[in-house]
Amino acid sequence: MILSGKQIADQILDEIQEKIQNGSRKRPPHLAVVLVGEHPASLSYIAMKQKACEKVGIESKLHHFQSTISQQELTEVIQKLNQDPKVDGILLQLPIPDHLSQEHFIELISPEKDVDGFHPINLGRLLAGETGGFIPCTPLGIYELLNRGQIVTKGAHVVILGRSRIVGMPLAVLLAQKQGANSTVTICHSASFNIKALAKEADILVAAMGKAEFVTADMVKEGAVVIDVGINRVEDPSKEKGYRLTGDVSFEAVSQKAKMITPVPGGVGPMTVALLMHNTWKAFEQQCAKH
Ligand code: GUN
Repeated sequence: MILSGKQIADQILDEIQEKIQNGSRKRPPHLAVVLVGEHPASLSYIAMKQKACEKVGIESKLHHFQSTISQQELTEVIQKLNQDPKVDGILLQLPIPDHLSQEHFIELISPEKDVDGFHPINLGRLLAGETGGFIPCTPLGIYELLNRGQIVTKGAHVVILGRSRIVGMPLAVLLAQKQGANSTVTICHSASFNIKALAKEADILVAAMGKAEFVTADMVKEGAVVIDVGINRVEDPSKEKGYRLTGDVSFEAVSQKAKMITPVPGGVGPMTVALLMHNTWKAFEQQCAKH
């Protein structure tokens, strides 16, 4: 059975739209989107994020810079957005060019406006089980997908393939917490012995290593739930654009074995966007409560 992220994301967007419409704040929430360069995937992600903003009633402004912008110039841009009381959330689309320090900018964004949840303070809050911070959108989206998809997580063995700062690592922390998913979590990565055998033990298998169709049917337990975080562009001359999108899971074969599986596109991607809207709304509420 297909676990449609798109359907659940639409529900979440409707809920946020309602909260914004029925709220008593004097202005709409505002998300500042910062893009450096013309990375094709980034352009497409940003278009989806801005479309969702429009749908729910969040004002979004794109601050688009050439890839030659200096560290100092971009620093000033972020500092200005940090200080602007009308900006609730700041999203710096990653990756940024190599001459700019990703770590510097992640730490420069004010933790109160860090709707991506990548700042060490917000990652620390997640680790401490505090609820006031921001949790990265993809892990939070996967948590919501499992919750709203009525998948039993308590005690379930979740195997996560990939340990990135954006997905694997925060997801492991989130799902292991007692207040919440309460799962047993294993993280696999490039140095893990026998990934196939570990993956096969999963009640819930999360593929987030960014390798096209890496997860094959022989790595999946009969009746497992499979969450595919990958979005890979694979060359395909038969397509108009010259490529097709595929996940980290071999969808056709694995869907025969899995009880539930998320598609690509239409799975985790829309959930990430929906939870970005949630985080922006949360930042807005916190900001309004302060003033
Ligand atoms: N690049 C890929 N995924 C993400 C994300 O979730 N947030 C940001 N800012 N950049 C990304």
